[in-house]
Amino acid sequence: MDLRGRNLLRVTDLTRDEFLHLVDVAALLREEKRAGHRQNRLSGLNVALIFEKSSTRTRSAFEVAAHDEGAHVTYLGPGDAHLGRKESIRDTARVLGRMFDGIEYRGSSQDAVEILGANAGVPVWNGLTDAWHPTQMLADVLTMRDHSSKPLGQVSCCYLGDGADASSLLVTAALLGFDLRICAPGTLPPSPGVEAMAQTLAGRSGARLTVTTDIAIAAAGADFVYTDIWLRTTAPPEVWDERVSQLRSYTVNADVMCATGNRNVKFMHPLPSLHDTQTDIGRQIYQRYGLDALEVTNDVFESSASVVFDQAENRLHTIKAVMVETLRRQP
Ligand code: CP
Repeated sequence: MDLRGRNLLRVTDLTRDEFLHLVDVAALLREEKRAGHRQNRLSGLNVALIFEKSSTRTRSAFEVAAHDEGAHVTYLGPGDAHLGRKESIRDTARVLGRMFDGIEYRGSSQDAVEILGANAGVPVWNGLTDAWHPTQMLADVLTMRDHSSKPLGQVSCCYLGDGADASSLLVTAALLGFDLRICAPGTLPPSPGVEAMAQTLAGRSGARLTVTTDIAIAAAGADFVYTDIWLRTTAPPEVWDERVSQLRSYTVNADVMCATGNRNVKFMHPLPSLHDTQTDIGRQIYQRYGLDALEVTNDVFESSASVVFDQAENRLHTIKAVMVETLRRQP
């Protein structure tokens, strides 16, 4: 499998085999790191990390992965580069491509990462846009593989929350052929374009895709219950009211976990999560709505079923796999 020079801008940039290859490589790199072996496969390479939005996991994963393999990173945080303000994204891509061997981009705009990818001449990786989060999907699939004895094609996953926020998961399930039930309020369905794309992919992979408003239907027999943050941290409190009123029946709680009927069911969340009042926003939510959790209750988040921190750690190993495989030198 040769991924040298490739971009990762959206989930569909990978074939099923390429996706699973990266997950396999990540598992090997994880073993290697845990055994204390270092290979310096990216020695002497330079990587730019463009973050137009904040990040804990994605930034840390890129930085640690690069350092583990001997590469250097330059962090360009919100407002650090002229990007799109005083210099076009296309010009920025052509400049950074002359200096760096790979570029990570996080920001709202999928167009921005696509323009970087088309013009940099070096691999560009999407570290989250409003449309796609492909590196998260690699970590999620590695985590599912770690926590299920079933072949991926027999795994079932129940997603609760805003259907439009599940685009990457929907297309990943469709690409890899697992059973995904999206359970969302009727007012927050998956994007029709993404659902159509997923159904086409599912026709080839055998994935079973369900979109429902009914938690009992979505949860029955699930191996994984998955949710995502309801409130983007940049959203002002005025937009919270509508989100909370639309989504409040879709909190993952003990009843939802029980509705799976699966004693081994696992809980997944890409994080960050508003599951208690230990954050500024969590406290504001409690004062505004009397809710001490949003998308998942604290008892589920802290339960033995929760694999969220394995999922977070797997961001490191999978992002390292992406960099190693796309930046790999000729043997
Ligand atoms: N899941 C995720 O992308 O986390 P960060 O926002 O911390 O990078």
